[in-house]
Amino acid sequence: MTNNLPMITGIGYAIPTKVVTNNDLTTLYDTSDEWIYSRTGIKERHLFKNDAEAFELLEKAARQAINNAGIDVEDIDLIIAATSMPVQMMPTISCTAQRLLGIKRNIPAFDFSVACSGFVYGLDIANAYIRSGIYKNILILTFDNCSRYLDWTDRRTSILFGDGIGAAVVSAGEENDILAIDIKADGHVGDYITLPVPHGNCPFVETNDDKQILAMKGQDVYKFVANIIPNYITDTILAQNNIDSDTVDYLILHQANQRIIKAVQERLNYTDDKVISNIEYLGNTSASSILIAMGEAIKQGKVKTPSKAIICGFGAGMCWGGGVIRLREGVFRKENIF
Ligand code: COA
Repeated sequence: MTNNLPMITGIGYAIPTKVVTNNDLTTLYDTSDEWIYSRTGIKERHLFKNDAEAFELLEKAARQAINNAGIDVEDIDLIIAATSMPVQMMPTISCTAQRLLGIKRNIPAFDFSVACSGFVYGLDIANAYIRSGIYKNILILTFDNCSRYLDWTDRRTSILFGDGIGAAVVSAGEENDILAIDIKADGHVGDYITLPVPHGNCPFVETNDDKQILAMKGQDVYKFVANIIPNYITDTILAQNNIDSDTVDYLILHQANQRIIKAVQERLNYTDDKVISNIEYLGNTSASSILIAMGEAIKQGKVKTPSKAIICGFGAGMCWGGGVIRLREGVFRKENIF
């Protein structure tokens, strides 16, 4: 028996209370609930009302995951945070979480940026560290404050995203919960989704007036994802790991577009009860969408535990990644919602 197998022992999530409906967006530009819903499956999204709420929810999601894992905050020996749209660049989100949780030890903590693939990349990092024996209890955080980086006069992008936070604890143990995991990138099509950083006022170099706003070539992104993701799940995630899709209970895809979720569902020939979707009332919460969908679905009884789920994230970079994970009993417990 080895003690270095990755067990997903706890998950947590937090959703802001401020709701913005499609009808609210009609006050900003020429659009309609029907246009947005029919193309994306989105009816509303939740936004952090301020930075204080974002940090409060970060701590809440992290504590949920840690409580579900049944460990103390001091047992965490690494914090990693997937964040491409943080509230601040420094201190990092992972270091902020260390402070908010009151962790006294000088454990390592770092952020990484892979947009909507954040949770899957985080799981891949955790998998490698746990199997190598370097760390025993890793806290993965996903934190994207999308609303902060959108142009709210742009009806092509600001309809899509919402804010939210996810958390998971991966611990070293005797059972393997990560049955398949893979991450990929293709930087050659990086211009499909961009978020430039303005070049301040250094008098010694060329500066620019770039706005720190997310821009997206919507149709290119849609085609890229629709071409790549269904095959990637069947060929790379399932076939290469000798996993029959019929032996997996749920599909928990990144919540980017209901039409993409449907396309993957059809490819896998899954019935509706096997497919988890909350995009209708949360929009695309970027790195957090898979963890939020997972936690919520367990809370609502749509996902039973123990079970297995296909997960897959994709987005800016372009980056993507997927896996098959075991959802053990107790990974998310209703009594730990606070
Ligand atoms: N309301 C009404 N009309 C809108 C609109 C809105 N919110 N957004 C765009 N339009 C209009 C455009 O102005 C355009 O009109 P025009 O031809 O007169 O200029 C027309 O609708 C088509 O625009 P287009 O951008 O081509 O729309 P689309 O059919 O591609 O749908 C998306 C836009 C964003 C819904 C779609 O491209 C998409 O879902 N892409 C994937 C996005 C995604 O998942 N991103 C995250 C990846 S992590």
